Amino acid sequence: MYVCLCKGVTCRQIKEVVGKSVYSMKDLAQQLGVATQCGRCGQDARDLLKSTLTLN
Ligand code: FES
Repeated sequence: MYVCLCKGVTCRQIKEVVGKSVYSMKDLAQQLGVATQCGRCGQDARDLLKSTLTLN
């Protein structure tokens, strides 16, 4: 499922990098471009980042 439509980034792609090379929204923006355009995905991306970091 897409989290960021502007950049075509999926939930799975985010889960793959969180805890490896991504630890913050800034990392996510730099590496996958999440929330760098319209910003609508920001809250969902943040929630996913948080829950994935908690699981790792
Ligand atoms: Fe992610 Fe627009 S949906 S920046």
